[in-house]
Amino acid sequence: MRINTLSLFALVSLVPTLVVASLSGSVGRLTSVSTKAARKTCNVLDHGAKADKKTDLGPPLASAFAACKSGGLVHVPPGDYAMKTWVKLANGNAWALQIDGTIYRTGTEDGNMIMIEHTRDFELFSSTSSGAMQGLGYEFHKDDKWSGPRLLRLWDVSDFSVHDFILVDAPSYHFSIDTCTNGEVYNMAIRGGNRGGLDGLDVWSTNIWIHDIEVTNRDECVTVKSPSKNILIENIYCNWSGGCGMGSLGKDTDISDITYRNIYTWNSNNMMMVKSNGGSGSATNLLFENFIGHGNAYSLDIDSYWSSMSSLGGKGVELSNIVIRNWKGTEKNGAERGPINIICPDGAPCYNITIEDFAMWTEDSSRPRQGYSCRSAYGSGFCLKPGSDSHHAPYPETTSTVSSAPSGYSAPTMAADLKENFGITVSIPIPTIPTSFYPGATPHSALMAHGH
Ligand SMILES: *[C@@H]1O[C@H](CO)[C@@H](O)[C@H](O)[C@H]1NC(C)=O
Ligand SMILES: *[C@@H]1O[C@H](CO)[C@@H](O)[C@H](O)[C@H]1NC(C)=O
Repeated sequence: MRINTLSLFALVSLVPTLVVASLSGSVGRLTSVSTKAARKTCNVLDHGAKADKKTDLGPPLASAFAACKSGGLVHVPPGDYAMKTWVKLANGNAWALQIDGTIYRTGTEDGNMIMIEHTRDFELFSSTSSGAMQGLGYEFHKDDKWSGPRLLRLWDVSDFSVHDFILVDAPSYHFSIDTCTNGEVYNMAIRGGNRGGLDGLDVWSTNIWIHDIEVTNRDECVTVKSPSKNILIENIYCNWSGGCGMGSLGKDTDISDITYRNIYTWNSNNMMMVKSNGGSGSATNLLFENFIGHGNAYSLDIDSYWSSMSSLGGKGVELSNIVIRNWKGTEKNGAERGPINIICPDGAPCYNITIEDFAMWTEDSSRPRQGYSCRSAYGSGFCLKPGSDSHHAPYPETTSTVSSAPSGYSAPTMAADLKENFGITVSIPIPTIPTSFYPGATPHSALMAHGH
């Protein structure tokens, strides 16, 4: 394997230490792949793997990892592999996993096909930007089975990078980042079935930069869960999805300093949803900036009485210091679901919310109107009630309806918005990673296939 050291250095120098205030320090793997490869390379083919789409990759991958977990590079070369048993790659240090082949799920156990845990200085990538895991989830879903394995999970991993990798059709979730720190995740395509429960990327962690990701599914696109802090999510293309969100939030919610920006959402349940029903704790210092949507059911949807979860009791999760800025585009049916829905708990009203430069309009020309709804929510803009910082009384839902389009709502579409979903009963094709995730925004790093 050949690594272009020069371009790796170039890549490192492009990554700023602090991207915006949301992050609390530098992110990403500490040691370059070339250094790891030079120290030791463990090719799975030398550990019993066969690219025959039959031999179980699980044991060879675990064996290659055992030989290279302290400072080396584990390589899965191009080719088609079957994976029947799952691997837990634990306690590695300064290692990398280069998957240039395609891994087809053949086993049916629950759990995580690849789980990385208790690890520092880690990188997972494909040098061709075409390495993939094909979960063949439709084999479960066509029989109405909704459990089965998740594809990829990182747990207690620090100083890591995951990039140039494709996840397809998970039987269950695609990618979870659980209690990790200082991570960078970028240049990925995630494509799942058109059904709830098949989350794209879920993160509950500290100091993570997630950027330039495309998700197709019918549930979470890129979602922050509790506890989390210092997370920056940008250049996200929800290309027919559930949409981005935070939650579901429950008891002792502890979320702060989260930025979502440059989020393009097409044909999804929502552009940004913060969901809870009862619970406690808080989510504060949130910035949702530069959102474009088309064809979505909800747009901005903060719902503290979310009917799809049963109430947890408690006074509710307190939301504060939220800026919603520069949202453009259209929603599917504004007469039924207006673009602003801020429903806060009566027991813990939201405060210091600012909505500015927000212009969206309905796609339903037969009913040219839309509503803005607020409940127990304070701040400035639209239906928010202005209020003191010291005392926020609950108030019932109020909706203001407008029947003409706000100026400046029109916004570009992406050239290749998905026209039809992939359903749940037939195999989902493996996509290529796009090179644009938000109209007019250039990805922060070129694909490895294009020279990095
Ligand atoms: C209101 O929220 C903004 C944005 O998060 C923040 O900068 C400001 O300090 C908050 N104001 C108060 C009084 O906390
Ligand atoms: C959106 O998804 C469809 C179907 O997967 C694909 O054809 C299209 O290229 C995607 N758009 C982009 C920009 O990747």
